[in-house]
Amino acid sequence: MTGVIGSRLDARKVLTETRTMNQILRQKSPIRPGIRNIEPNGIGKVAMLALGEPDLLPLWFGETDLKTPEFICDAAKRALDEGRTFYTHARGITPLREAIREFHRRTLACEIALDRITVPGAAMLAVVIALQSVVETGDNIVAISPVWPNIFQAAQIVGADVKFCRLQEDWAASCWRLNLEALFATCDGRTKAIFIASPGNPTGWILSRDEQRAILEFCRSRGIAIISDEVYGTLVYDGTPHAPSFLQVAEPDDAVFVVNSFSKPWAMTGWRIGWLVHPEFLADQMNVLAMANNTGATTFAQWGALAALSPEGDEFRSFLLERCRNGFDITRRFIEAQNRIRWIPPEGAFYGFLQVDGLTDSFGFACDLVHKGRVGVAPGSAFAPPEDFATDAYIRVCFAQDPKLLQTGLDRLGSAIAAL
Ligand SMILES: Cc1ncc(COP(=O)(O)O)c(C=O)c1O
Repeated sequence: MTGVIGSRLDARKVLTETRTMNQILRQKSPIRPGIRNIEPNGIGKVAMLALGEPDLLPLWFGETDLKTPEFICDAAKRALDEGRTFYTHARGITPLREAIREFHRRTLACEIALDRITVPGAAMLAVVIALQSVVETGDNIVAISPVWPNIFQAAQIVGADVKFCRLQEDWAASCWRLNLEALFATCDGRTKAIFIASPGNPTGWILSRDEQRAILEFCRSRGIAIISDEVYGTLVYDGTPHAPSFLQVAEPDDAVFVVNSFSKPWAMTGWRIGWLVHPEFLADQMNVLAMANNTGATTFAQWGALAALSPEGDEFRSFLLERCRNGFDITRRFIEAQNRIRWIPPEGAFYGFLQVDGLTDSFGFACDLVHKGRVGVAPGSAFAPPEDFATDAYIRVCFAQDPKLLQTGLDRLGSAIAAL
């Protein structure tokens, strides 16, 4: 299979070859059904249509158009020049883990033992390791949706089903609401973890402190783990340094896994580095899991990440947050000028999750938009199970963009919606 996905033609070729591969594998094969049947998520499928095409405005992925700041790149380059090209400790270099501990002191005012911090690679890998730690084939996890779709596939890869508890729109109060009773009722005897991304992707919803406490109590009483994805934790619009974190309420030995990342706040998506805070008693096991999955994060990326946690990195985070605030305002003004779009303003993260009046096939719409409107958006259906028709009326745009690019992208989107 070609590794180049530079044009529509290549994308079609990849899809056709994947299909052929699946047909061959279905005949007689040792490949697990969970892997055989795996498919790209909805965002990936739309993006394959035109990834990298220069005239397309990409608002589909969760990343800013800003490059990683120079001081972070310089630190990684320095590490290379100094010959830091060898294996490191599988759980990450000590100065980085210490700086992460300090970051938690600064942003959350909480003290995390060094033994609870592991840097295995990106947040994606941290999520997989958290799942590997709790799930066996046939178990399930419960996710609060609409939710970042990679979690569906990560669960499938470790052999778990995903059950969903959908946030409900409260249009009158302009917020998303979590029904805790519904969440708890979704858990059954095979539920091993509740997955929560707060601030959420795609909604920007934030779990409250009281809800956290209630979920923690429930999970303790039922022997269920919490996987708390806090990669947008510092991208919040209420002026606080961080959204409520499970680290502020959980005990060191609670079955709580907090996932974090350098990708979003420091514009480092391509570096593939993040971290996991896990129960203290799992320190040795995390060493083995980190070893077996990646044998540690890329060495010079770790030195770059260390620079990100410096005061200069804090300045960059503030700058990016202001840029996102501006993107938020541009998106809000765009929505106000449209009569067929509404949203629940996000409390955090950097996405507009737009409900389009009359839209019933967000995937088809997103594909059309690529071809005719030359703007890339993520279809709402990607963030929910197929039976969740309500989410199919949504599309997601990432507003952490250059203001002109964002405005042009939204204008193109507005024209396409007017023609619906
Ligand atoms: C909620 C959530 N968690 C994790 C990630 C992935 O982070 P990383 O780039 O560190 O793998 C994303 C990326 O979009 C995300 O939205």
